[in-house]
Amino acid sequence: MSSSVLEPPIHRARKAVIPVAGLGTRLLPASKAIPKEMITVVDRPAIQYVVEEAAEAGLSDVLLVTNRGKGAISDHFDSVPDLESALEASGKDALLASVRASSGLAHIHEVRQGEAKGLGHAVNQARDHVGGEPFAVLLGDDFNDPRDPLLDTMLDVQAERGGSVVALLEVEPETISLYGAAVVEEAPEAGRGADVVRVLSAVEKPPVQEAPSNLAIIGRYVLHPAVFDVLDRTEPGKGGEIQLTDALMELATMSTQEGGGVHGVVFRGRRYDTGAKLDYLKAIVQLGADRDDLGVEFMAWLREFVQTYEEPSERLRSGFAD
Ligand code: G1P
Repeated sequence: MSSSVLEPPIHRARKAVIPVAGLGTRLLPASKAIPKEMITVVDRPAIQYVVEEAAEAGLSDVLLVTNRGKGAISDHFDSVPDLESALEASGKDALLASVRASSGLAHIHEVRQGEAKGLGHAVNQARDHVGGEPFAVLLGDDFNDPRDPLLDTMLDVQAERGGSVVALLEVEPETISLYGAAVVEEAPEAGRGADVVRVLSAVEKPPVQEAPSNLAIIGRYVLHPAVFDVLDRTEPGKGGEIQLTDALMELATMSTQEGGGVHGVVFRGRRYDTGAKLDYLKAIVQLGADRDDLGVEFMAWLREFVQTYEEPSERLRSGFAD
């Protein structure tokens, strides 16, 4: 067989970067003394679902961009020899497996962000670890259902087309100001159950009236390493922070030879947001209902609860509005 008919090897990104240095004010007071990423969702911390999502997409090297007070996150992915031998000695095999599951997911590395200068600044801390390869970025506030693999598609799109890839979600127009908004070329191409579009530009958290679209950039990216040089010259933007969205805007205008070009994968699957209180409650109910060990009993109780629940004459506990 002549070499001309051989397909060039497709190299998918192998490393994931997960910024976890943020303060987590939306989950206060729960996140006062523990990182927001360690808040329990059913029976494991929210960050474990995100690392599971990375591992399922074949990203076995995970770099956490951390900060002071975030040590519990790295501890969670470490092994605990004393606890493991105690569980082993007492024959608690299921618990032992659950403890080992998080430490066996991926090779976890850590770098400190030091100063809170924005998402773009956090991602730029990964330069030395990532080197010259494309890499994924997963934000910790939400995670996607393993039955609707988004990251897998994004990694394929990046390997086949080069440049960078962002995940896009059609949101209610009045909520677009919470996100980076993408300007995309019209006709979406159908591919692997998801639409792949060319991103022409992006704006970080535009006012609703000025938003160029209702396509929100959600927290999954596969980035070309050219992003690091772009981030080095990205001036502080929205909120005085170095914005990843601003770097993407520049990448979208650069040529393929320079590592430019941005594609968007429009996500239409199930997504759980744990970064805000109401969404967090919904995520627990949805994930609890799907569990093979809890779902049947939990749903029976929930149906009964909803049918018989009476509005209280006064609310028992006051909340803290965002
Ligand atoms: C960040 C990004 C924003 C993106 C969002 C997705 O904002 O800056 O472009 O749409 O994540 O969750 P944050 O939510 O950290 O303020």
